[in-house]
Amino acid sequence: MKIALLGNGAIAKLVAQFCAERPAKYQVAAALGLPSDTASVGAHPLVATLPELLAHKPDLVVEAAGHGAVKAHGAAVLRAGFNLIIVSTGSLADQALWDEIKAAAENSTAQVKLPAGALPGVDSLAAGKLAGIDRVELKSSKPPKAWSGTPAEKTHDLSKITTPTVIFSGNAREAALAFPKNANVAATAALAGIGFEKTRVTLVADPNVTQNVHRLEADGGFGSLRLEISANPSPDNPKTSHMAALSIMRLLEHETAAIVI
Ligand SMILES: NC(=O)c1ccc[n+]([C@@H]2O[C@H](COP(=O)([O-])OP(=O)(O)OC[C@H]3O[C@@H](n4cnc5c(N)ncnc54)[C@H](O)[C@@H]3O)[C@@H](O)[C@H]2O)c1
Repeated sequence: MKIALLGNGAIAKLVAQFCAERPAKYQVAAALGLPSDTASVGAHPLVATLPELLAHKPDLVVEAAGHGAVKAHGAAVLRAGFNLIIVSTGSLADQALWDEIKAAAENSTAQVKLPAGALPGVDSLAAGKLAGIDRVELKSSKPPKAWSGTPAEKTHDLSKITTPTVIFSGNAREAALAFPKNANVAATAALAGIGFEKTRVTLVADPNVTQNVHRLEADGGFGSLRLEISANPSPDNPKTSHMAALSIMRLLEHETAAIVI
């Protein structure tokens, strides 16, 4: 299958490698980056505009670029009839963007596919929802320096944190919008489960962790869920868990495998 990438960074590089290792199944036709992206992270060409990307007539467009790219290109990709994987799920906390993306998908033949990213238990949340879920809570702990460049810098001196410190507590919509590069997992929990307002989120700067640790709790008609993942960072971007790229690869496997799980 022919894949087009939105983005030319850490996740795009891993997805391109995955495809290059399986040339009989996947070919990356091209990637759209920012003007600052001068060299491609793979063997595929970089293009400068969405029409150039879609001219390759991909079977699937994979967004791995950030909230701005979903806003700039997501609906246009769908309106043109191309299926779209969105890994920057936090962008969908923007109600206007959600409405636009949903309408674009509903009014075309295209489908939006959301990968689990670094969130454990998406399958359990989405299935459990069918029996009613009363409570979903997510606690995401990362090393203090992983919160640099976020609103946490304004409220805390990250270099002086010596004990686990709560830097945000609120709902998933607030978390996803305030921490666009660090709280996609919160948005994915909301989308799989009981929505942005009801999903409670705590973000922690923890000097005792070296990985991104996400603890998910949920209770409902299905029973109770307690899951924790200690996710390794992506080789080229410490803010991104390696699981983000792996979960995209899993969706690519779903497109081609005879047996899907
Ligand atoms: N769902 C999850 O669990 C999860 C986890 C980690 C990251 N993410 C999302 O994935 C995104 C990409 O992660 P990464 O580690 O590859 O980031 P990165 O910074 O390494 O790469 C981002 C790439 O996208 C390009 N880009 C940015 N804005 C663009 C735009 N408007 N149009 C086209 N290209 C654009 C950049 O130039 C860069 O090449 C993150 O911003 C985050 O939103 C999701």
